[in-house]
Amino acid sequence: MFSRRVPSELSPNRIASARAAAAPRFDLTVSNPTACGIAYPPGLLAPLAEPAGLEYRPHPRGLPVAREAVARDYLRHGVTVDPGRIVLTASTSEAYTFLFKLLADPGEAVLVPTPSYPLFEHLARIEGVRAIPYYLGRDADWRLDPEALARAPGDVRAVVLVHPNNPTGSFVHPDDREALCVLAADRGWALIADEVFLDYPLDGGPGADCSFAINQTVLTFTMGGLSKSVGLPQLKLAWIVATGPGERVLAALDRLEFVADTFLSVATPVQLALPTLLREGAAVREAILARCRANLATLRRAAANLPAVSVLSPGGGWSVVLRVPAIVGEEDMVLELLHEDSVAVHPGYFFDFPGEGTLVLSLLPDPDTFAEGVRRVLLRIATNLARS
Ligand SMILES: Cc1ncc(COP(=O)(O)O)c(C=O)c1O
Repeated sequence: MFSRRVPSELSPNRIASARAAAAPRFDLTVSNPTACGIAYPPGLLAPLAEPAGLEYRPHPRGLPVAREAVARDYLRHGVTVDPGRIVLTASTSEAYTFLFKLLADPGEAVLVPTPSYPLFEHLARIEGVRAIPYYLGRDADWRLDPEALARAPGDVRAVVLVHPNNPTGSFVHPDDREALCVLAADRGWALIADEVFLDYPLDGGPGADCSFAINQTVLTFTMGGLSKSVGLPQLKLAWIVATGPGERVLAALDRLEFVADTFLSVATPVQLALPTLLREGAAVREAILARCRANLATLRRAAANLPAVSVLSPGGGWSVVLRVPAIVGEEDMVLELLHEDSVAVHPGYFFDFPGEGTLVLSLLPDPDTFAEGVRRVLLRIATNLARS
């Protein structure tokens, strides 16, 4: 009766069940910035009540005033963007689905990075598209392997890049970007660059703060959104910037407009408020960045006392990866932390890290929660080590 776009097995896994049974006191997996004690300017949402929002005059690509505000925001990254080449969506997730509709017929494929954001598999499947993983190697600083990419099947239509990647925090290296552009031009692939975390540099690295929206040699769709750039996921507004060879971009935009027009999914009040939200939201962005940096420093100080644990350097983003001794399996370790210590962390396999011994922590929690959660994680690891 139901399509295979939706998984037939939807029951919660062991970790989700354990969390549902007893909410952890120290949740080091939070990804919702509105639930971590970040200070938001009290009047930030006032422009949503603009009387102009009472009138409904939709534009399939998004209201010009909103697209112009997005274009202005790219100047922070030193990129000049044509508002005519921007399409608004309700979220980055929706932007992915629009782009998969635009680029791939049912059954065709897109290449997605691994380890990375676990939603790609579902987003592709819901569109009837195959997500084929390409691997970022830890021993190679999470660099792309253009030679492996070149071996991709003939029905690949696009390559997804997450810049910086979630959760490794790695940026696409400029040399890899160049190699990929040559390959994509040769194979007729489009690039889909997810830059939702570009505003959050931590350790930085080659490629940091270099947006894919400068790409002109190959059809490129660069994405960002309010959920990360100003910490307002509940407002549901994201964007796609299309760049590349002129004729091809215009053809893509006409078709993308057709897709967007069938939904008209972005609400008018948030579009009208966008210029103010992007301006005033800078305070939220700065608070989130300061939080992530402070928590990373806390983690590094604490982990320095336990040489068996290494904190992998995050170039940017809201997460950090820990390599821990694989004395017990990741899932058992995460369950033990939940049951014994009331701490929630992600197991590496959630993001498709190969092998065992990887934990992923969010850098968003309030500093006391984070420090105590980290203390408990490290103590648990030290205890297991002493027992082994
Ligand atoms: C890499 C990446 N892209 C996109 C998203 C989702 O963004 P949005 O809320 O705009 O759909 C997330 C959410 O965590 C993410 O990690």
